[in-house]
Amino acid sequence: MQIAICLYGFGNVGREFVRLLNRKAPYLKSRHGLEPRVVSIVTRKGGIRAESGIDCPVLVNLANAGTLSDQEGFVGGDPSDLDAWLPPMREGDVRVLVDATWSDLDTGEPALSRLKDAARRGCHLVTLNKAPLVADFDGMAQVARESGVCLKFSGAAAAGLPAIDTVRVSLAGAQVDSIEGVLNSTTNYILTAMSDDGLSYEEALRRSRAMGLAETQPERDVSGIDTACKILILANAAMGARKRLGDVKVTGITEVTSREIAYWAVQGRTLRLIGRAVRTADDVSIEVKPTPVPYKDFLAQVTGDSKGVRFTTDVFGELTIVGGSGGPSAAASSALKDLINLAKAVGGEQGHIS
Ligand SMILES: NC(=O)c1ccc[n+]([C@@H]2O[C@H](COP(=O)([O-])OP(=O)(O)OC[C@H]3O[C@@H](n4cnc5c(N)ncnc54)[C@H](OP(=O)(O)O)[C@@H]3O)[C@@H](O)[C@H]2O)c1
Repeated sequence: MQIAICLYGFGNVGREFVRLLNRKAPYLKSRHGLEPRVVSIVTRKGGIRAESGIDCPVLVNLANAGTLSDQEGFVGGDPSDLDAWLPPMREGDVRVLVDATWSDLDTGEPALSRLKDAARRGCHLVTLNKAPLVADFDGMAQVARESGVCLKFSGAAAAGLPAIDTVRVSLAGAQVDSIEGVLNSTTNYILTAMSDDGLSYEEALRRSRAMGLAETQPERDVSGIDTACKILILANAAMGARKRLGDVKVTGITEVTSREIAYWAVQGRTLRLIGRAVRTADDVSIEVKPTPVPYKDFLAQVTGDSKGVRFTTDVFGELTIVGGSGGPSAAASSALKDLINLAKAVGGEQGHIS
């Protein structure tokens, strides 16, 4: 199967995605029969495109080079002009837009309109960008359904931790009654370093930055907003919550002190930034806050930059998953996973083993 990819965003994640595609090309062909080619890479001021696909050596050079706009072949243009950037319709091609950009969390723009427009033109969607899903999850899902395209977003909901696939595949048929999890690597690293190594909040934050854990916008991590976005996406996708970011009560970790950590340690508890969505009689309530967790609870065992989530369901009981790497390479890997699963779904009639 030929896959023509239009990649939006060429920062940490976009570049890692291109390196991964190149490294995995033989595996994708032999194991899955997939031949992806990157037709365009788009950033804020324009991009690079080649209808027959950008050559692999050129792609890898681009991924390792500086700003895209300084590279040969870059043409200026409006990223929202899909006529300029989407792969043209070609017999036998599956067209996919991969979004690794940032957008406004309230409006989801500029990605929200772009993704909907691409779906209406028959492009499948893989988004690592949380904002369009946070701003209008139901609208995105509806446009994808009506347009008959796949919408995949593993990288926007805890990336290396296969939370969304667990719900969609492993828990199919179940009603999810609650989701609670440690969903942000940076904040979990900071809280673990404060409790295990006795660091102050500032020292632990500095160390997490030095390790390159924080995203480009680290304030979204420590304020709890990143966790709120993830639990919101999970709740909307898995529980039909129909909530918006404004419905989530969010407390971050910026006010957590060493004294508080020590206080809870004496009580046999450790602090974790927990995102929690709970089904009530006729609604779903969602909250993010630093929570004292008993040492024996599985969420207390989620340490350092790990993530973990617990689902409570009607028919499968309780299910916990923990682990998965973090950072841009995990995000890129989750986009590749989405691409493979999307291709399986699109080519479903040919059958696949899973
Ligand atoms: N980093 C991670 O570990 C991680 C993990 C999971 C998910 N994510 C998500 O992945 C996305 C990208 O993260 P990143 O770390 O790669 O960010 P980044 O390094 O800041 O790169 C962002 C890229 O997006 C482009 N961009 C931004 N706004 C755009 C727009 N309106 N139109 C077109 N291109 C635009 C930028 O273009 P210019 O080059 O012109 O500035 C840049 O190439 C974010 O949504 C993030 O939440 C990241």
